[in-house]
Amino acid sequence: MFETGIVANETPETGTVVVAVGAKRDGTWPFGDAARHLDGRTDGLLRRALDLGTPQKHGGTVQLLLPQGTDFERIVLLVLGKEGGKDGDLTARDVAEAGASLASRLAAIGVKRATVAPLDGLDLGGITATDAVALLAEGAHLRAYRFDRYRSGGDEAKEEAKGLERLDFAAPDGARAGLDAVGRLAEAVNMTKDLVSEPANVLYPETFAERTRALEELGVEVEVLPKAKLEELKMGALLAVNQGSVREPYVVVMRWQGGGDEAPLALIGKGVCFDTGGISIKPAAGMQDMKWDMAGAGAVVGAMRAVAGRKARANVVGVIGLVENMPSGTATRPGDVITTMAGKTVEVINTDAEGRLVLADVLWYAQDRFRPKAIIDLATLTGAVIVALGHERAGLFSTDDDLAKSLDAAGESTGEPLWRLPLGPAYDKHIKSQIADMKNTGQGREAGSTAGAVFLQRYVGDTPWAHLDIAGVAWSGSDRPLSGKGATGFGVRLLDRFVRDTCEG
Ligand code: BES
Ligand code: MN
Ligand code: ZN
Repeated sequence: MFETGIVANETPETGTVVVAVGAKRDGTWPFGDAARHLDGRTDGLLRRALDLGTPQKHGGTVQLLLPQGTDFERIVLLVLGKEGGKDGDLTARDVAEAGASLASRLAAIGVKRATVAPLDGLDLGGITATDAVALLAEGAHLRAYRFDRYRSGGDEAKEEAKGLERLDFAAPDGARAGLDAVGRLAEAVNMTKDLVSEPANVLYPETFAERTRALEELGVEVEVLPKAKLEELKMGALLAVNQGSVREPYVVVMRWQGGGDEAPLALIGKGVCFDTGGISIKPAAGMQDMKWDMAGAGAVVGAMRAVAGRKARANVVGVIGLVENMPSGTATRPGDVITTMAGKTVEVINTDAEGRLVLADVLWYAQDRFRPKAIIDLATLTGAVIVALGHERAGLFSTDDDLAKSLDAAGESTGEPLWRLPLGPAYDKHIKSQIADMKNTGQGREAGSTAGAVFLQRYVGDTPWAHLDIAGVAWSGSDRPLSGKGATGFGVRLLDRFVRDTCEG
């Protein structure tokens, strides 16, 4: 558990204090009031340490232990500013990344609690000290997340247990509101990370659906549709994917009504709680990763929590399809023809292309029932998007240029960047079936992510739509600027920002 708080707006005297300084420019370090004061009290220790240490870039830290002339355990200097740039070049995202880097550094040196000294007198370009406090806290929250509920507490666990517990900011009371807001946003991201991190023996469609009930507390209306209802709705594609599993499938509808009677924005998520590939079974190596094949659904839940948590003035409906893709005697076979809720038929060539089948029914259901003004779906849909974009960006497909532009902008500013990839009739041939309305895979390895996207496009009607293929970014094998190893929570902050910037008048 990590928390942030506001304390008296003065430099503390004990413990671990974090002091921000500008990036070195013209041979000198731009100091704010706190750094100047401590440098004076320690006979120039801060300046000397900065000059002597390994050169630090933006987000870098220098640690001073037991500085003479003070009662501190440590002074941690944090560089806030772009090397060779102007302070005005600093973006909100840069400051958040510095907060994240600070949190990771503090954890690494075994600090449990620290206080950030007042930022007064520092030139942060267009960013106010109050905003900078919130941004540093946001980054720290995102980076301080840990998924350790399965560590039973032995020695090995203790070794790994050095987490940062609390970061206070010496700041005016006015900074509290911003801090609370980023705290709530971080809780939403953390909820997504928890869902994505859970193993599939714990998180399966039924238990996933139960966890969405937590949103009711925030005023989200949660409707859990059981299998009988999905049968009644004729969700033949979603049901076909789950057909080999002993678990029951669910669709969850989450509604946030903060925008009067305007048409809602619909957020749709792929929630394959485990993807073995089905009868077209995946290789053993790496299959454990498929516990996070529900990250799209997880991001939708987190985004709903974020918009409800700040009482957004917008109508947003989240719909997620929760299934498990298993091979068994009852499983769908390659070659089977299934009928989707939309009435279109699909020849299942490869049972491992299951995400698009689940989404076909959920997309159709959402546009049919809610008549949304726009639909955004998130899915760990294709390995091919990793081939194209690596782990740096998610794939963006859209039928609407304005929607694509707004999503792209939200991605850049939140550090969850996208890259647009093509749709269009030229790709229709990839999913042409000899015997049904379409088939569920493309032609070999060609344009694999687009083949998935053009399939989905057949189920959104005329509604402006965007598809985010997050297979490469939902999970990370290494530390990222704004998240540690493991679940990244990708999409939550992007969608929350998108709602804020484009749906709230
Ligand atoms: N869940 C996978 C995609 C995936 C791969 C997510 C790697 C995260 C990391 C998806 O269901 C899948 O298996 N896609 C197939 C589609 C193919 C059979 C057309 C793929 O990408 O190989
Ligand atoms: Mn699959
Ligand atoms: Zn999958």
